[in-house]
Amino acid sequence: MNHGNSGATAEPQGTQDPRDPRGLRGDAPLLDAWLRSSEQAAAGLLTPMSVPGHKQRQDLTGAVVAGDSPLYGGLDTIKHADVMLAEAESRAARLWGADWCRFSVAGSTHGNQALALALGNPGQEVIVTRNLHRSLLLGLVLAGLKPVWVLPERDPATGLPVAVAVDTVRDALARHPRACGVFLSDPSYVGTTGDLAGHAEAAHAAGVPLVVDAAWAAHMGFHPDLPQHAIAAGADAMVTSAHKALPSYTQGALVLARTGLLDRARLDRAFDATHTTSPAGAIMASIDAARALLARDGKELCGRLLATVAAARARLSQVPGLGVLSGPGVEPTKLVVLLAGTGAHGNVVESDLIAAGMPVELADRDTIAAIVTIADDSVTTTRFCDTLVASVERHRSAPRPVRSSPAWTVTPQQALAPREAFFAPNDTVVAQAAAGRISAELVAPYPPGIPVLAPGEIITAGALAALRAAKDEGSRIAYAADPSLATFQVIASA
Ligand SMILES: Cc1ncc(COP(=O)(O)O)c(C=O)c1O
Repeated sequence: MNHGNSGATAEPQGTQDPRDPRGLRGDAPLLDAWLRSSEQAAAGLLTPMSVPGHKQRQDLTGAVVAGDSPLYGGLDTIKHADVMLAEAESRAARLWGADWCRFSVAGSTHGNQALALALGNPGQEVIVTRNLHRSLLLGLVLAGLKPVWVLPERDPATGLPVAVAVDTVRDALARHPRACGVFLSDPSYVGTTGDLAGHAEAAHAAGVPLVVDAAWAAHMGFHPDLPQHAIAAGADAMVTSAHKALPSYTQGALVLARTGLLDRARLDRAFDATHTTSPAGAIMASIDAARALLARDGKELCGRLLATVAAARARLSQVPGLGVLSGPGVEPTKLVVLLAGTGAHGNVVESDLIAAGMPVELADRDTIAAIVTIADDSVTTTRFCDTLVASVERHRSAPRPVRSSPAWTVTPQQALAPREAFFAPNDTVVAQAAAGRISAELVAPYPPGIPVLAPGEIITAGALAALRAAKDEGSRIAYAADPSLATFQVIASA
């Protein structure tokens, strides 16, 4: 998309290289190396006798491989790229106040799984939010950890989740004194955020680490009007997707830790166990570049973002019946639109937005969540608000009470540990016969990817009805062996 930046701040710093318009390479070793290597490739100066198999040619699979250079053997030699990587990661660790950092090309999905593997030993309990992303649930399977679920509170007015209360975690820790740690997801998919400092204090009082899936929060902590990030709040580790909130390549993520309660060598082993040995240099370089941008211009860019979202929220909340999520406990850069008071259906409005070239992150009947980042400005958000308001007016009907997505209402009944259920013999049964059986599979409406059924949980009539309702209203049912929900995979009867 081509549009002018409406914000007066943080404009390009005037370098000569249009491939690095803000002149970040001086503070970003991986970016610098990627710029050099892609320049060599473009000039025909490389005859690589190593992977990748496209050999920098674009006459075979075409432009889809343009700019692809591996970290090992591309950005630097296979024997030395790790030195450059360690330098870039240590800069990120410093920026977030951590003492350990790794860059991942496999998203917060990988980060969650690595942190689960680093946290405890097979069979140990861990206090985990039931608002967890499916990647963390599968992390529990990999690590063999037994979840002690803590449920987030829910706001009855919006039907959306708010944070897990500190007392809920404190109680769980008191009831499960052998738990190896606390693993929370904050902010939530809809930007609600809790008292991480209180959680850190509760975990530390019990002598265990607090680990936070902060997939959506890579920008947090970089402006005085933003909540502090998890590490600053006292967490021992966090994972965050650079590709979600920051201008990084898809898949880019950072895993950060303050070691002590977590062991550095174990963190490295856990990370490496689940990461590719061939990370893409462009993804790694884009994480490095985003870190350098945040370090230098983060405050200005986040300031512009805050003002842009505040203006969009103010505009949308003037539309009769339309609400926006805001106030204490809501991350101020999130733009979550509440539709129930307008009678318009979120999936219908989403179709209009997609037709206008504006895909949103989440839409269900009552909610639309738009992601606004430092790459946006008032031009993009005005266009979004105009299209959204026009669509709402076209589809307006009688206001209705809110109905929570099943992702926000799960009350699990755990019969087996996730790992035990994952590997147990299973049967396929028709939906009518599934109620009361133990699920062998993970089933989640996506987005948000929060399991409504997880391996080891009893399939309740309520969960079946809620999944069917979500599907009938247009949600994609992800990860189920049968996404039509006609059959379910259950643990085989003895
Ligand atoms: C809370 C949460 N954690 C982790 C993930 C996985 O992130 P990624 O897509 O970067 O692997 C997501 C994805 O949406 C998420 O919402």
